[in-house]
Amino acid sequence: MIAEKRIPEASPLEDESLTEYYSRMAKRHMKFPVKRVLGRIRAQGVERGVALDVGTGPGIFPLEIAANLPEMEFVAIDLSPAMIQTAQANARERGLEDRVHFQIGSAYALPLKDKSVDLVICVHTMHHLEDPLVFFNEAARVLREGGKCVIVDLRRDSPKPLALFFDFLWRIIIREKKARDGLWNSLKAAFTVEECERMLRRSVLPPCRIYSQAIEMWIESY
Ligand SMILES: C[S@@+](CC[C@H](N)C(=O)[O-])C[C@H]1O[C@@H](n2cnc3c(N)ncnc32)[C@H](O)[C@@H]1O
Repeated sequence: MIAEKRIPEASPLEDESLTEYYSRMAKRHMKFPVKRVLGRIRAQGVERGVALDVGTGPGIFPLEIAANLPEMEFVAIDLSPAMIQTAQANARERGLEDRVHFQIGSAYALPLKDKSVDLVICVHTMHHLEDPLVFFNEAARVLREGGKCVIVDLRRDSPKPLALFFDFLWRIIIREKKARDGLWNSLKAAFTVEECERMLRRSVLPPCRIYSQAIEMWIESY
């Protein structure tokens, strides 16, 4: 356990000077994490249709996933206007601006119609949410019947030695002083698997399984 009680984190991305840095780091280091999410999406059997990415940051996940799934269209949202601007520039750079649409939006009020998406993904954003239950219910609202979700985030109940190891690696990779405490602060702000299970049970999201892997937890439809 990293902290008994959750310690909410001021969004690191409120500091717009970090947006470009975060985008550069994500392009360089997210290849393997993208592959893992893509693997889970394929395992869910969703390879075409409309997908939604919530808390997209610089947009690396929807862009790389769309590049691998040519029949999938993405709407990707983030609260931060600076992030959305960076993500749009990344989409132009990848030549994917016709299939990956970035817009400002909140996890608490998804800017989509009821039953309009085949897949919801959300990567490392849940720990920024004070009330993920509202997001789970919003995800349930926009998912079509049989639609799937793949949600991954850090977990506060990570084994401490493992968390310290990842934090050590983070501090080697992240040279920007303002972002050095980022992983540890996010771990303190994260939910535990048990807290998340409780919220899922109270939500109207179709049945999901939740499992932990190293310092993360994954929530997936089944
Ligand atoms: C740690 S970043 C993850 C970015 C991206 N998913 C990735 O893994 O590269 C979390 C993102 O969530 C966004 N965010 C925080 N609260 C949000 C909310 N209520 N609705 C939508 N986005 C939010 C932040 O602006 C930030 O870009």
